[in-house]
Amino acid sequence: MNAAAPDADGHVDAWVVTFSGHRPDDVGLREALCTLGNGYFATRGALPESASDGTHHPGTYVAGVYNRLVTEVEGHRVENESLVNVPNWLALRFRAADGPWFGCDTCDVLDHHLELELDRGALIRRSRLRDDQGRIVSVTQRRFVSMRHPHLAGLETTLVAENWSGALEVVSALDGTVRNDGVDRYAGLDDRHLVPVGEHHHPPDVICLVAETSQSRVRIGEAARTRMRLDGQRIEPQIRFRSRPGHAASETTVALEEGQELTIEKMVALFTSRDKGITEPAEEACDWVTHIAGDFDEAFARHLVSWQHVWGRFRTDLGVDGGLARALHLNQFHIAQTASNNTVDLDVGVPARGLHGEAYRGHIFWDELFILPYLNVRLPQVSRSLLRYRYRRLEQARRAARDAGYAGAMYPWQSASNGREETQTRHLNPESGRWLPDASHLQRHVNAAVAYNVWNYVQATGDDQFLRLYGGEMILEIARFWSSIATYDHALDRYEILGVMGPDEYHEGYPDREEPGLDNNAYTNVMAVWCLCRALDVLDALPPVSATELRERLRLTGEEVARWTDLTRKMKVCFHDGVISQFEGFGELEELDWADYWDRYGDIHRLDRILEAEGDTADRYKLTKQADVMMLFYLLSPNEVRDLLARLGYDTDPGLLARCHAYYEARTAHGSTLSRVVSAWSSARLDSQRSWGLFCEALHSDLDDVQGGTTAEGIHLGAMAGAVDLLQRCYTGLETTGDALRLAPAIPAALGSLAFPVRYRGHLVHLHCTPTSASVRVDPDEGGPMTVEVAGETHVLEPGQAVDVELDGGHLRPMA
Ligand code: BGC
Repeated sequence: MNAAAPDADGHVDAWVVTFSGHRPDDVGLREALCTLGNGYFATRGALPESASDGTHHPGTYVAGVYNRLVTEVEGHRVENESLVNVPNWLALRFRAADGPWFGCDTCDVLDHHLELELDRGALIRRSRLRDDQGRIVSVTQRRFVSMRHPHLAGLETTLVAENWSGALEVVSALDGTVRNDGVDRYAGLDDRHLVPVGEHHHPPDVICLVAETSQSRVRIGEAARTRMRLDGQRIEPQIRFRSRPGHAASETTVALEEGQELTIEKMVALFTSRDKGITEPAEEACDWVTHIAGDFDEAFARHLVSWQHVWGRFRTDLGVDGGLARALHLNQFHIAQTASNNTVDLDVGVPARGLHGEAYRGHIFWDELFILPYLNVRLPQVSRSLLRYRYRRLEQARRAARDAGYAGAMYPWQSASNGREETQTRHLNPESGRWLPDASHLQRHVNAAVAYNVWNYVQATGDDQFLRLYGGEMILEIARFWSSIATYDHALDRYEILGVMGPDEYHEGYPDREEPGLDNNAYTNVMAVWCLCRALDVLDALPPVSATELRERLRLTGEEVARWTDLTRKMKVCFHDGVISQFEGFGELEELDWADYWDRYGDIHRLDRILEAEGDTADRYKLTKQADVMMLFYLLSPNEVRDLLARLGYDTDPGLLARCHAYYEARTAHGSTLSRVVSAWSSARLDSQRSWGLFCEALHSDLDDVQGGTTAEGIHLGAMAGAVDLLQRCYTGLETTGDALRLAPAIPAALGSLAFPVRYRGHLVHLHCTPTSASVRVDPDEGGPMTVEVAGETHVLEPGQAVDVELDGGHLRPMA
């Protein structure tokens, strides 16, 4: 696709993503990639004149605004909770008074470009359109969603009548008739979440729309102020206010002379009843566009300063420029737009598909496992806030555990408003047209993700208060859950976890067993042990008074803790052919004829759907959608994995990682974008060439839409952040656990060099690595002395001090 193409002179601007020409097939992808957001809300890069029609899908999503709807599907009651598509604030149309509305679908497109400015958080559109009477209009639009004021956005449109004179009609609207109709396979489900409440206008130039979500009763107020300039001079043409239920609009007619330039400035404010520090949302929105927003240029200038600050935190200097740097910036850009400082005060998690589309209904999965490690050392306060989302839902997790017959807290596989399990119980296979039972809620490993994120956040930040107040309780309750789901087999003298699903969603159960679920998924079992070990650490790490209070609050008994310890020595893990078995019995499954499937289907990232449509099932084969066993080597170092296995009484040799990697790589379809991140990570120290290739693919997952169309429905934030984190932690060997900041770089030659700042336990630290050197500099202005370990050597650095180490084929010499 042309986004990755260099300019005519061969130059690739690392800060601008350009799309040229109007290609209906690419519209959805462009809309998702050109989404602008600020961590509070985001708006897809839809053209302002477009409405949802199967090609275009304007969408605006506010973090945490969910609604539930019920639909009858084939006699089943299906309830879904979705991130709501709120009223479209972009809506702006224009036409020569007697002609069709100008637009890429209704006119000849003489020119069309979209430029996403990553450094400035702006989207520029330049088009030249010719209507059916030969009238040409050139259109330049700039838009932003303010990083500075999270409730504010702006759209500036400049039109030139190139070869004609006459009346131009302009309609600026707030459209609350939008629906959640952005994902084709959800088409059979009810998608009307908004109930119109009112439409108002406030002369001279403000319109306002109020809507409410049908079940969660979140009130949404939007206001737009539309002003015009002709050849730079403010004009005040007569405005006609037109409203109908769910739609507020202002219409204006302006007499244009050939060559004249009309600028339409639309400033918008958006509030919801979830916001703090406000009166009623619509009143607040009107107040903002009237008295606070200022004009486009002023508001945009403030927005730019905030983006500069974001890039200060996210800065990552590569030794290479061009396409790689651009993809890196694009990924970081979308991370910041989904979770930023504006997110900190909100009670929200981080949706797997960003705030960029409706896939997975805006739900929160284990994907935060790939996102928080990046944020922990860049924007730790955002990580903390995202973890607080989980803490607030601890009671629901306790209830879920109880209802399922377990103790402790069992977090849901898919979470949204209140932390109830939101995974669908039936899903549509578009390949076969069949609605099928869905067992993916059995992915109990999400609990390991929550505990892992809590522990690693505390390790990276030293935020003991978080551990005392929230994190410790989460880890202990999750440990309790693992202890209660594990059953003890006397004959084996082993604990087992039966009837769950691992990360590989192709396998839902055994082909010959009616009940879904698999036994002894290695990733789940080993991570359960890891969680139990951390729970024991928490009890040691907390100050005695806090530990006692927590034990008392949770009524944690000595017997429970003794069982945890026992579990960390006797959990069952299966092996076959010298590798860890993904689950018990994996080694006995049939091999798939991969070549045949590649030949017949080309794209086999949804092998599960293909096999089901063929009347077969993925459950029969040795295949995996995504890294499952290899997740262990993603989260833990090879030595940690071997130590945990040794603790369980399984002796392994140092070749385990290489064997597992080769075995599973040959059987993985990479049907999840997360998978390449994990493979790139686990192969980094085995096969750097292969790792680099996988890293590049992972980094470009959305830019290249590697899953053939899914990016249009929302970016894959886990893969985006995971790919960036490969640079940050994997190739540098950066570790923040224990009492030192550790660095053990293995910088791929293709990268040249890598430099970025990290926040570590109150210090600001500047890292610079090349294939042959590493340097750590402690910022003079923040924190006291700190311990760093570079390639195995320990140094204590005062603020302002640095250590430079020469790396020589894995051996190191401190530089003179
Ligand atoms: C993956 C899951 C992931 C989810 C949301 C699925 O396709 O298999 O691991 O959590 O997408 O990104």
